Amino acid sequence: MKLTSVVLAALAATLGGASLYAQVEERPIPHLVKKEGRYALFVDDAPYLMLGAQVHNSSSWPVELPKVWPAMEYLNVNTVEMPIYWEQFEPQPKQYDYTMIDTLLTEARQHRVHLVLLWFGTWKNGSQHYMPEWTKLDLTRYPHMVDRDGQAVDSPSPHAAASLDADKSAFTAFMRHLKESDPQRTVLMVQVENEAGSWGSVRDFSQAAQKLFEGPVPTELLSAMRVKTVSPSPNWQQAFGPDADEYFHAWSVARYIGQVAAAGKAVYPLPMYANAALRNPFNPGPPGLPGAIGNYESGGPTDNVISIWKAAAPALDILAPDDYQDDPAAYLNVLELYHRDDNALFVPETGGADKARFFFSALGLQTIGFAPFGLDYTHRAADRSLNQADASRPQEEFLTPWAMNYRLVGPMQREIARLNFEGKLQAVAEEQGKVTRTLPFGSWNAIVSFGAARNNRGAGNPKPAGRALVAQLGDNQFLVAGYFCHVDFRPAGTEQQRTSQHIVEGTQQNPSALIDGKWQHRQFLRVEEGTYEDGVFKPIRIWNGDETDWGLDFSSEPVVLRVTLGIY
Ligand code: DGJ
Repeated sequence: MKLTSVVLAALAATLGGASLYAQVEERPIPHLVKKEGRYALFVDDAPYLMLGAQVHNSSSWPVELPKVWPAMEYLNVNTVEMPIYWEQFEPQPKQYDYTMIDTLLTEARQHRVHLVLLWFGTWKNGSQHYMPEWTKLDLTRYPHMVDRDGQAVDSPSPHAAASLDADKSAFTAFMRHLKESDPQRTVLMVQVENEAGSWGSVRDFSQAAQKLFEGPVPTELLSAMRVKTVSPSPNWQQAFGPDADEYFHAWSVARYIGQVAAAGKAVYPLPMYANAALRNPFNPGPPGLPGAIGNYESGGPTDNVISIWKAAAPALDILAPDDYQDDPAAYLNVLELYHRDDNALFVPETGGADKARFFFSALGLQTIGFAPFGLDYTHRAADRSLNQADASRPQEEFLTPWAMNYRLVGPMQREIARLNFEGKLQAVAEEQGKVTRTLPFGSWNAIVSFGAARNNRGAGNPKPAGRALVAQLGDNQFLVAGYFCHVDFRPAGTEQQRTSQHIVEGTQQNPSALIDGKWQHRQFLRVEEGTYEDGVFKPIRIWNGDETDWGLDFSSEPVVLRVTLGIY
């Protein structure tokens, strides 16, 4: 592990009122790296895959923490997402309370996990509910948005200069404290606000907002959106027509949050992101229109305004989808929409136990991290229908589909992150009706099939639960892992052969292909089951005979294979 320096860090954590001072190694600041169109989050100067979970976050900390850790351990996470509440952090103007941050740091270190901290500042789920009381009591200085009819909306105005100033100051104090108290980089990233935007109105119609709306669109946005109009400096309506209200709001919210992020980054440049309450990607309703079918939160980084957010808030490294889409096709489409050349895929919230397998789909799109929401026991405890004993018992049937992912990938998380960053990894999850998938790896095709398979054609699992990853370790060597799937390999010829001739595929006992007039058959030279220890693959046993004669079967056990292939 590379150490940049050794500092004497004054840990702000206090034990029984006495400050704890310790000599702590200062590690490199986590950062995002882009190479050949792929992104990785670098932690300790190497790609890191965040196997995360976000705790249920609407109660006060740290009372709930003892209930959180057993669930996190069961899930095998390496990173926990936890909120910092502005109202708790700054109960009186400029009086900052660091105890919550310090407790989270101390306890995360004790449990050997990293943190992503969520700044619940001006916005949380489209409202100002986590703003301090002293702002809520002064609505002239810290105003709400106003709707088309002039009525106040349960959402903060992005045009309130005093709110912006206050949020910037508080966030900067938070980041400064983090910088001073976390040289070991327990905290990897910071989310700025939470699901910003507004549910109750498409935009702010206050006087201040209206003046801006009728004025010219900022030139950097015109060029980012490649807008061509007759007028050289069009107003919002002229530039964006029916989308003007929504685009104006997206710009205003993003501009505000971008300034909060930039102020925090100026003191401590951790990677920062904003999360989105999504719209249905296939069939969106209207933004910010309560009661309308498909109504979605206006102004947040929904898929249609990602470019606006990128132009308005360059201090944000990532725009990240909270993927709760029920329809599997919509869920997967969201992953694709946020996996862009200008945006690393990161899923800071997700849910639905039947969606756990889509962690593999996100891996296939080089996600830097994934975090199901609310998988801790605080949520159960809050459920009044459960008696106390039930509330504290591990809810395995609820956690297991997610825990399985991290149990399999956890021991090789760094290798997976590196292979993915190098473009050597492909991963897929089962989709209804798509029971066989072919993953091209140069001269080999990996064939993944789901459910009981014969001749590498799957029948599908009774409920779609299959997931697989394949990574190329050498020309003829692969790492294979998964659940409820079957994996085999077929010769694919050279690039020239693939373009110059029609290659016929055979399905004899072993996958084969007719290339240059000769049948080439896959043979397993060696199939080793094993595990990674300190970055080195350690074989546990050899698979052969019944275990390989019909391809490689993966059930509910966390199995990792290193497969060496040849041709006969
Ligand atoms: C999305 C929000 O971002 C979270 O903070 C939380 O409120 C969840 N929804 C609850 O489902």
